Amino acid sequence: MSEAEAVDDLRKKLEHYMRQYEPIDGTVENISFARVENMGETVTAHKVAGQKESGILGYLSGMRALPQTIYFTRHGESEYNVLGRIGGDANLSPRGQKYAHALSEYINAIAGQEPMAVWTSELRRTKQTAAEIMAPKRAVRALNELDAGICEGLTYEEMQERFPQEFAWRDQDKLRYRYPWGESYIDIMTRLRPVLSALEDEDNVVVVGHQAVLRCMLGYFLDAKLDELPYMTVPLHTIVKLTSYGYKYKVEMIKLPIECVDTHRKQPKNCSITRTSADALLTVPSHYDTLPSNLWQNSTEAQL
Ligand code: F6P
Repeated sequence: MSEAEAVDDLRKKLEHYMRQYEPIDGTVENISFARVENMGETVTAHKVAGQKESGILGYLSGMRALPQTIYFTRHGESEYNVLGRIGGDANLSPRGQKYAHALSEYINAIAGQEPMAVWTSELRRTKQTAAEIMAPKRAVRALNELDAGICEGLTYEEMQERFPQEFAWRDQDKLRYRYPWGESYIDIMTRLRPVLSALEDEDNVVVVGHQAVLRCMLGYFLDAKLDELPYMTVPLHTIVKLTSYGYKYKVEMIKLPIECVDTHRKQPKNCSITRTSADALLTVPSHYDTLPSNLWQNSTEAQL
């Protein structure tokens, strides 16, 4: 519509609101309220008390409508990814190192034009991935991968062999399942809360994280359903670029052309604790049993 029409439309909308709502006056009202003016320029709190209420106030104060770009990426392929092992603190595989280099070329081209910041976890695979990016870096503990407790360092096959019941329970409710001595997706969401708030105030940040942690972060920005979070696809060697428009985000997946394993395991049909091992392992992605020496010279020749 033309500018004149748009202004007229907005004026009508305001008139409509003014008929429907009445202003709250803190000096006469005995209720608690928070008022946000001009997209968060002024936030007034009246009789706001309690943990949840203060949390909401904090959230309202952090509201912003400025354009924002955030780049998310998993670390480059790690030696544990190649072997199908979860958790741990492994180094990047040679293909992962290639991704780190390609990522830095992509990001450095942008960092040359605008200020940029890089957040990694405290684990070495994310730090190695960010090593060549020329921007200030921060290692954030809350970005560390899901702690798999007694299953750290195992493959899904080994989990099924050693802890079949745990493996089935996780498949039944992956969002809430907590590894013994470890964490659940819900636990990660709780520890990520301050990081997400801090991220909302930033522009041009690169977050180098991990599969489960990035599922939670992307799910937050993209408004994903909670139960879908643990199955979101966040592939290796792919930059996920989020650009804000208003309070929503546009998502672009930028796959860099460096081969890697797939670490996404779909929910199997049979999640019963009495299922066979074959049923439990049906959706486990292919991986190597030992680190292949030929893989790195000519990755197209290597066979899974
Ligand atoms: O396989 C890579 C990894 O980052 C593991 O370290 C982690 O336990 C796993 O992904 C999380 O994915 P999922 O919740 O699907 O097992």
